[in-house]
Amino acid sequence: MEKSDQVKTVKFYSGEVTPLEMHKVRVVQKLSLLPIEERKECIFGAGFNTFLLQNKDVYLDMLTDSGTNAMSDNQVAAMSVADDSYAGSASYYKLEKAIREVFNQQYFLPVHQGRAAEHIISKVFVRQGSVIPMNYHFTTTKAHIEMAGGVVEEIYTDEALKIKSDFPFKGNMDIVKLNKVIEKWGAENVAYIRFEAGTNLIGGQPFSMQNLREVSAIAKAHKIMLLMDTSLINENLYFIKIREQGYQNKPIMDILHEMMSYTDFSYFSGRKVSCTRGGGICTNSHDIYMKMRDLVPLFEGFLTYGGMSVREIEAMAVGLYETLDFDVISHSPAFIKYLVDSLDQRGIPVITPAGGLGCHLDAGQFIAHVPQSQYPAGALAAALYIASGIRGMERGTISSVRDAAGNDVLADVELLRLAFPRRVFTLSQIKYAEDRIQWLFDNRKLIGGLEWTEEPPVLRFFVGKLKPIGDWVDRLVAKFRQDFGDSL
Ligand code: F0G
Repeated sequence: MEKSDQVKTVKFYSGEVTPLEMHKVRVVQKLSLLPIEERKECIFGAGFNTFLLQNKDVYLDMLTDSGTNAMSDNQVAAMSVADDSYAGSASYYKLEKAIREVFNQQYFLPVHQGRAAEHIISKVFVRQGSVIPMNYHFTTTKAHIEMAGGVVEEIYTDEALKIKSDFPFKGNMDIVKLNKVIEKWGAENVAYIRFEAGTNLIGGQPFSMQNLREVSAIAKAHKIMLLMDTSLINENLYFIKIREQGYQNKPIMDILHEMMSYTDFSYFSGRKVSCTRGGGICTNSHDIYMKMRDLVPLFEGFLTYGGMSVREIEAMAVGLYETLDFDVISHSPAFIKYLVDSLDQRGIPVITPAGGLGCHLDAGQFIAHVPQSQYPAGALAAALYIASGIRGMERGTISSVRDAAGNDVLADVELLRLAFPRRVFTLSQIKYAEDRIQWLFDNRKLIGGLEWTEEPPVLRFFVGKLKPIGDWVDRLVAKFRQDFGDSL
């Protein structure tokens, strides 16, 4: 077994459980933390939408882990040898080799990011009346499927939406529900079954190999294709290795190849896996590849760059190999676990067990006095920015779309996601987040709701604007000053 394949822990003499960085920081970016009065001005300017804040006004950018991860020295070095060419770039062939070796997939279509892959896949395989069962949707995934006339059926297990749980694989599919969905719609109308690794919207939760194996058998029996979204595969691999029986001593590459052996095709956002910016679609089926191939030059760019810069392509190839290194894939989940466990122990409502991607606060419980129609997750996101300069992302009703009659569809869960860009933040910064969240929790009764001032019809969470209902923001700022004196 390679050294990098071992599950490693470093025990502290003091007995303290502290995640330890297996890298050192050699390039840094200066941050600033504005006084709370200025943070208040900024959130009003941004229409209480953290997407509309300017990064210069943010202390810890925990909006997303997309395109914000730290690259390794080897990735940065690879960018300087990139081969600029419209067609046949040597950089592209390095990436194709990485796809073959790391994912064990023969055919590759490069695209500029994950949703571009979703666009092409939906255009080719989704028809009016198609159904796509999945463990859980992602926002852009669902939008592309619905735009192509398809319907999403969520077939998560009963554990998935429980905030507090010790179930290790909340990203699993419910096999009974899957069979029922296939029976209800008819296998011929199921465009494909989509399995999302590290299920994003339910808290970065993994699925198990066993569940994947079972779903794959059902798909094969009905001649339905299985598609895997591997954007968050790093952390799903990590959790299979540490949580699933029989995988502790397996090399990460073998685990990944076994996962891929159950899928017909897959796609990824390179903004997450590989810590770069780009994406791609992979398959071992020449037929599936040929069905999509010609849309890549039409929508993305020629087949050897697909809308990506060659520098990103070089870094992506290196980043994919690094996915096989236990130190690389364990760092983010270990830091997330540190914050999740500490908040959970203090009685602050967070999704457990800790997953990948980030720490998810349950706004529904955190500010239970704010009705769901007043967007608690959005209100908590704004309140945390005001209290700390940290920007998270609303993952609740604001992130869903209205129904055909124009009514809000209340989200299954109202979450504030604090994403952990990989290898970016230090432990003292995470402790700062922990401290300000505790303060906010102790003062939660001061937080009120939000209402729309500008609401776009599609993916409204990106650029929509809201305002606070009542004067809760002023009261929150006054309490901060009272408690923290002249602290930033
Ligand atoms: N699939 C998953 C599981 C994702 O998390 C994302 C993006 C996409 C697909 C789309 O990829 O952004 O490259 O177009 N998630 C980001 C996030 C945006 O913040 O969670 P993309």
